[in-house]
Amino acid sequence: MAIPILDLTRQYAAIKPEIDAAIQRVVTSGRFILGPEVEALEREIAAYCGVKHAVGVASGTDALLLSLRAVGIGPGNGVIVPSFTFFATAGAVHNAGATPIFCDIDPQTFNLDPADVRRILTSDGGTRPTRHGSPTQIKAVIPVHLYGQMADMDEIMALAHEFNLYVIEDAAQAIGAEYRCLLQRAADHGRRSTARQAGAIGHLGCFSFFPTKNLGAYGDGGMVVTDDDELAERVRMLRVHGSKPKYYHHLVGYNSRLDALQAAILRAKLPHLDAWTAERQRIASRYDELLAGVPGIQLPYRASGRTHIFHQYTVRVLDGRRDALREDLQSMGIGTEVYYPLPLHLQECFVHLGYREGDLPESERASREVLSLPMFPELAPEEQTYVAQSIRSFFGSSSQP
Ligand SMILES: Cc1ncc(COP(=O)(O)O)c(C=O)c1O
Repeated sequence: MAIPILDLTRQYAAIKPEIDAAIQRVVTSGRFILGPEVEALEREIAAYCGVKHAVGVASGTDALLLSLRAVGIGPGNGVIVPSFTFFATAGAVHNAGATPIFCDIDPQTFNLDPADVRRILTSDGGTRPTRHGSPTQIKAVIPVHLYGQMADMDEIMALAHEFNLYVIEDAAQAIGAEYRCLLQRAADHGRRSTARQAGAIGHLGCFSFFPTKNLGAYGDGGMVVTDDDELAERVRMLRVHGSKPKYYHHLVGYNSRLDALQAAILRAKLPHLDAWTAERQRIASRYDELLAGVPGIQLPYRASGRTHIFHQYTVRVLDGRRDALREDLQSMGIGTEVYYPLPLHLQECFVHLGYREGDLPESERASREVLSLPMFPELAPEEQTYVAQSIRSFFGSSSQP
C-alpha cells in the first residue's frame, strides 16, 4: 500500500465544483492582483481570527518580513527566534537587515522556551555582540506555533511587556489553533481571560497559504493579521513598494501582493477549514491509540489550554533509530518527513553568528528525533492502521492497543 505524507488531490476531488467555480469567477472578472477577491478574503480571515485587520501578501515568508519592517526592525536590531523551525522565520529577520538571536525550545511542545528567552534577555541586558563587535538591540520575538500547537503565549507576552518587545507570531502552521489562557498584552497592559486564535495575540500574526498548509492555496500566498490600525496600514503600504496613494512612496517596500486566483481558491476552502481540522484531530487521536505503548516512540504532547490543529503529527523516535525507521517505512510505501533535520543556529549561512553544536541542546535533539507521519483530513482508517502496524513491526511490538 502506498501512503503519501500528504495527498492534495483527494481534497480537490472532494470540493472540485467549488474550486472550479472560484477559478472561473476570477478568470472572467479580469482582475488578477489584489482587488475584490483579496479584500473579501481579508475580511473573512480577519473575522475567522477575531482581529480587526488582515492584509494579504505574497507568502508566509513575506508576511514575516513585512511585519518586521512594519514595527521598524532593521540593521542594529536583534530578533529572538526559535532555532527549531522552518528557515523562513530566521531568514526574514536576516532579510530585514537584523540579526536572528536563536533560542532553545520546550522539548514537549517543540515551541520556543520562555525560560530560554528570559536567559537571553537577562544574560546580556537585551543586547548581544555581533561579529563586528557592536551590540544588537533586541526589539522583537517571533514565537512559532510549530506543527499546529501554539507556543506559551502568556509567558511570551509577559516577557514582551517586561522587556518592551514586539511579538510577531509565526502562525504559518497554526491557522485555527486556539489558546485559552490569561493573556497579557504588551500593547495595552490589559489582562483578560479568553480564547484567542493563533496570530491574534501578538502585535502581528503571520500566516502561510503554501499548498501543503491546513488552509493551502494553489500557489504561494500569505497574510498578516493585527488589531493595530497603524501597523496594518504600514503592511498594506509595504506590500506595494511602500506607496500610498499609488506612485507616492513613503517607504521602500516590496512587490508582495496576493493574487485574486489564490484568494478565490482560499475563500472556497475557508468554510471547510474547521471540519478539516476536526478530521485531523480525530486522526491524531486514532494514531495516539494505535501507537500507544510502542517502545521507542514518544507521541505528540498536548499542552493544556490549547487546541492542537495537527498540521503535522510528529513523533519522537528515541535511541537513534529515527532514520532507520524512516527508511523502513519508505520501503513499505509510507511517506514521512523530518521537519527539520538541522536547527537554524547550525546552518552554514549563520556560521558568522558564532553558534556551536551544544549551544541549544533541545533544538539539536529534536532535529535528531522528530518524524512526521502521514496526516491529512482524507487519510483513510485502513491507511492509518497500516502506518501504525508498520511502525509496530519495526520495533518488534506486535501487541495491539
Ligand atoms: C513555520 C513557518 N514559517 C514560515 C513559513 C513560510 O511560509 P511560505 O512558504 O508561505 O513563505 C512556513 C511555511 O513554509 C513555516 O512552516
